Amino acid sequence: MNQRTCLSVILAAGEGTRMKSALPKVLHQIAGLPMVAHVVKAAEAAGATGVALVIGHGADEMRKTAAKFAPEAETFVQEKRLGTAHAVIAARAAISKGYDDVLVMFGDTPLIDADTLTVARLRLAEGAAVVVIGFRPPNPTGYGRLIEKGGKLIAIREEKDCSEEERKIGFCNAGMMAVAGAHALKLLDAVDNKNAKGEYYLTDIVEIAGAQGLDVVATEASFESALGINNRAELAQAEAIWQQRRRHEAMLSGVTLIAPETVYFSHDTEIGADTIVEPNVWFGPGVMVASGAKIHAFSHIEGATIASNCDVGPFARLRPGADLRNKAKVGNFCEVKQAVIEEGAKVNHLTYIGDARVGAGANIGAGTITCNYDGYSKFFTDIGEGAFIGSNSSLVAPVTIGNGGYIASGSVITESVPDDALAFGRARQKTIPGKGKELRERFASAAAAKKKAAGADH
Ligand code: UD1
Ligand code: MG
Repeated sequence: MNQRTCLSVILAAGEGTRMKSALPKVLHQIAGLPMVAHVVKAAEAAGATGVALVIGHGADEMRKTAAKFAPEAETFVQEKRLGTAHAVIAARAAISKGYDDVLVMFGDTPLIDADTLTVARLRLAEGAAVVVIGFRPPNPTGYGRLIEKGGKLIAIREEKDCSEEERKIGFCNAGMMAVAGAHALKLLDAVDNKNAKGEYYLTDIVEIAGAQGLDVVATEASFESALGINNRAELAQAEAIWQQRRRHEAMLSGVTLIAPETVYFSHDTEIGADTIVEPNVWFGPGVMVASGAKIHAFSHIEGATIASNCDVGPFARLRPGADLRNKAKVGNFCEVKQAVIEEGAKVNHLTYIGDARVGAGANIGAGTITCNYDGYSKFFTDIGEGAFIGSNSSLVAPVTIGNGGYIASGSVITESVPDDALAFGRARQKTIPGKGKELRERFASAAAAKKKAAGADH
């Protein structure tokens, strides 16, 4: 079966009016990835070697997204939406290349899994000409019904064309199919539009294939895998299902999630074994966490790399380019952007580190700010190994703090500091004996005089 070639034709020409959106429906995201890209991923995981994307509404945006998330996909424009069979035929040039298997998928059914597709392909390998992916939704209204006889699928009837009896069938068409490449175009070309909606129905190939004596069967997918998205409530439902699957996978791979339902992953989050994630943590796109890290509650992490045994949060914000090396620590109310925090360095409280390097073992005091931006350009701050930055310091970039450099608290550092030097960048303290008491007495008598004058007015 692995030798069989496979084309995935993904239908995504629809507008998706019920999303009430300027964005084409299939570009709405689940786990930070457009729905249609999830579909491409599933197809590829099931062995698709070619991907044909049928687009129409929002074609330019669709092409841009395809170039980014599925550069290998060929796009085909369906000028008029005349039905699902018509849409598949838009990819005629790809289908006629002669693939063994053609998987027809929907761009708005993003939770389809590789296993379901693989099972359908296996049935093709066993000799079926058409394999329909069915499912049993809690409410079948609106779906095409699968009509079976003696283990064979004889027809799919759209709801509008169903008899009273047929409407009672709970086994429905999820929409997706696997079709033997050798028969695909011949079957599709035989479809007409004589039905209640006047559309060219893909589902008609079931009867057409049956009439030609070809084998047609149905397989069953879970409700979740077949969930089609039409509005934002269903989008949220799909997101929830996706997150639930991913959390489960993470836990089985050795990650502790204390309150799994409060942790959100991205489509590409990588997280190593023995990492502990506390409640309410958000992983945006592009995060890699090695093993043994601790991610404390309420941390927001995107585009960041976290090496082994790091400690992050609570309430940490790691932005793109944050690169934490082994045992680095980024504590509460700290923001790190485009910066390397080298081995064992500590950025513990209320700090912004942007466009910087913090050398191994350095200690960044509370309230330290790298002033990296002058309103026009960004500048780099280089902090050497073992440096100590006193609390409430501003490091005005570009600036270098040498290895072992020591910055006095409250400094504004505008000039580079050599290795092992101590730098003060603040006014010197002046202490005047007795002056505090004198001031207090002066202020107290002024207040008493004011009160007395106010009383005399009455
Ligand atoms: C389709 C199935 C139905 C199944 C249901 C599952 C047919 C005839 N019916 O119905 O049996 O139960 O899906 O959700 O196949 N599309 C195009 N161009 C077109 C028409 C559709 O690209 O000309 C795309 C849509 O954008 C969508 C997909 O094909 O992604 C399905 O089309 P839709 O109109 O939603 O079909 P349903 O009526 O839901
Ligand atoms: Mg639909």
